[in-house]
Amino acid sequence: MHDFQYKKSGLYAEDAAVGKIVEQAGTPLYIYSHRTLLRHYKAFEEAFDGYPHVICFALKANSNLALLKLLAEEGSGADVVSGGELFFALKAGVPAEKIVYAGVGKTEEEIAYALKSRILMFNVESSDELETIDKIAGGLGVKAPIALRVNPNISASTHPYISTGLKKHKFGIPMEKALEYYCLADKLRNIKILGIHKHIGSQITKVAPFVEALKKVLALAENLKSQGIEIKYIDMGGGLGIPYNEEVSPHPKELAKAIIPLIKLYDFTLILEPGRSIVGNAGILVTKVLYLKKQHRKEFVIVDAGMNDLIRPSLYDAYHHIQPVRRNKGPLAVVDVVGPICESGDFFAKGRKLNRPQRGDLLAIMSAGAYGFSMSSNYNGRTRAAEVLVKGKDFFVIRERETYNDLIEDVKIPGFLK
Ligand code: LLP
Repeated sequence: MHDFQYKKSGLYAEDAAVGKIVEQAGTPLYIYSHRTLLRHYKAFEEAFDGYPHVICFALKANSNLALLKLLAEEGSGADVVSGGELFFALKAGVPAEKIVYAGVGKTEEEIAYALKSRILMFNVESSDELETIDKIAGGLGVKAPIALRVNPNISASTHPYISTGLKKHKFGIPMEKALEYYCLADKLRNIKILGIHKHIGSQITKVAPFVEALKKVLALAENLKSQGIEIKYIDMGGGLGIPYNEEVSPHPKELAKAIIPLIKLYDFTLILEPGRSIVGNAGILVTKVLYLKKQHRKEFVIVDAGMNDLIRPSLYDAYHHIQPVRRNKGPLAVVDVVGPICESGDFFAKGRKLNRPQRGDLLAIMSAGAYGFSMSSNYNGRTRAAEVLVKGKDFFVIRERETYNDLIEDVKIPGFLK
């Protein structure tokens, strides 16, 4: 469910007309709904209400500070994967004791920054990393709180690029090695074992893989206990899917219903790291039709947003629904919706049936709130889009559109060229 609906013939974000917002903020434009975002966050909070838990929003899905602040005010924690994301989370007011830090390649600087910030825990992905964290923590005279990210070897039945829980992936440590790694961690003087972490992939539309993975993790926790290693946190990662097209994704309530009976036999605190399921359908990308072009029996709708703004269709062949901002009664046509970038892979839809738009029309690319802006770039010298947050009938620019000067601000010309 989301709050981008038609009223009469115009698309609204909550109670604000998208067309009107664009008149002021231009295109390409990301628009987020305050109401949708809150509802999605609260759905997790309410679903897991009966069991001690921390919802750590995965910043990689969207790290706009205004959205993070909104979530932080509701009590959200954060799942970060870099020093930059940690910086964003802290800036937005997420308490350090609700921040978990994952990623296979944490640098020494990043580790020191996280230790000094006193985050909840590192989700550690290798023995090299474990030893590095131990060394840095020792230097700082602190104990580093950690979970080991285990790889439960479960197929998440999702796109290969966003599936992470199989043996062949670079993530985590193999389940069968987990005990050995925990024993290693237990021996390190500056490491404090707090939890077990797993994340099996993203856009998962069934509850079963989560249950299967949790069972393996719980068995590991029992095994650790018998070795004298006590676990406090079970971090389930993120990955709950959303409807982009026809797919039906479980509601957080269904996830909770499947998980809580298993975990309530124990005294853990559950951590969840949802990203997409909170922000994905809370955002759209609005773009303007620049040109229509027919060639070789193909019809192209050329818009002013490109793969630099939303790379998901190009990178994963991802489906995003495309709707006109003003309902259009034009004849149905089968079109490719493409951007202005010099790459054949720069498209938002291929062979899509749309009421043929006209030049100047606005189109809304739906479900673009997650991994949209956060994966955007300046490729082809393109300024990154502006972002707007709608609350009721009001809207707020939460990121200005970049300018050409922004694109060259950090560039240095060596003296010999002056
Ligand atoms: N926790 C960890 C350790 C993760 O690696 C991820 C996502 C999440 C949580 C959040 O997963 P979510 O709830 O959003 O599914 N760019 C891709 C998705 C990559 C996901 C990477 N990891 C896309 O646009 O589909």
